[in-house]
Amino acid sequence: MTFSDIDPPFIENMRNQAEIGREVYFFESTDSTNLCAERAFVDGAKHGSVFIANSQSLGRGRFGRSWLSTPDAGIYLSILLRPALAKEDCPKISLLPGLAAVLAINEVCGVQAKLKWPNDVLLNGKKICGVLSEFFCPDPDDSYGIIVGIGINVHHNQGHFDRAGLADVATSLDIETGVPQNRNILISAFLEEMETLLALLVTEKFEQVLKLWKSHCEMFGKDITLSQGTTTYKGKALGLDNQGNLLLETGENKTMSFSSGETTLKK
Ligand code: BTN
Repeated sequence: MTFSDIDPPFIENMRNQAEIGREVYFFESTDSTNLCAERAFVDGAKHGSVFIANSQSLGRGRFGRSWLSTPDAGIYLSILLRPALAKEDCPKISLLPGLAAVLAINEVCGVQAKLKWPNDVLLNGKKICGVLSEFFCPDPDDSYGIIVGIGINVHHNQGHFDRAGLADVATSLDIETGVPQNRNILISAFLEEMETLLALLVTEKFEQVLKLWKSHCEMFGKDITLSQGTTTYKGKALGLDNQGNLLLETGENKTMSFSSGETTLKK
């Protein structure tokens, strides 16, 4: 079995004392690591189980889109979480993976990637990372699970984005830094950041997560567009409330709060 430059023992050894990644499942190719995690959730897999693929045939993005899952190029990773959190606090988890990715990418690659609410990571104005979080609660009385899936564009070349029609919106770490980056170190750093951020959340220190999140986001104070399906809102992004919802000033003395949507910065 080959996983290209993904080195399972390296990742397992880095994580064997940890909560997130104590069990890691590697796939040369799979449909979607979120689907792997969902099947494992049904089979009773443990909190913190991680699913990593070298390619995906059905990589899924937000809003029913597909996710470019070029073999040997990206990080396609999902984490199954069964956190010790009240169900009403679960939406807060969705802010963690993007922040963990920014922290890991900036540290490992020496760049200044930025967050775009709710959980895109941009480098030099183009997307390098996306997050798909899914909540599972088969029975209202039963334990629930959250699957956070993350895709990071690492070794993609320009041709991959050109052929996928993504040349204007997406880029990779290798393209932006001009050197081949290391998927193993990136994965380990990301899992470590996730573990730290999740610990802050479960110990009721979410305000620290929010502070860090805001410090890595450049959209506040700027005019943006927020879309929810066919409805679009325009205004100035003011910040996040204490739940992580986006505050948008849509008119004089009128501020709206959003828990979901897709944002675009005005050029
Ligand atoms: C987005 O649309 O921005 C979210 C993209 C999420 C992609 C990742 S890749 C690993 C995991 N498995 C999937 O099928 N999707 C997520």
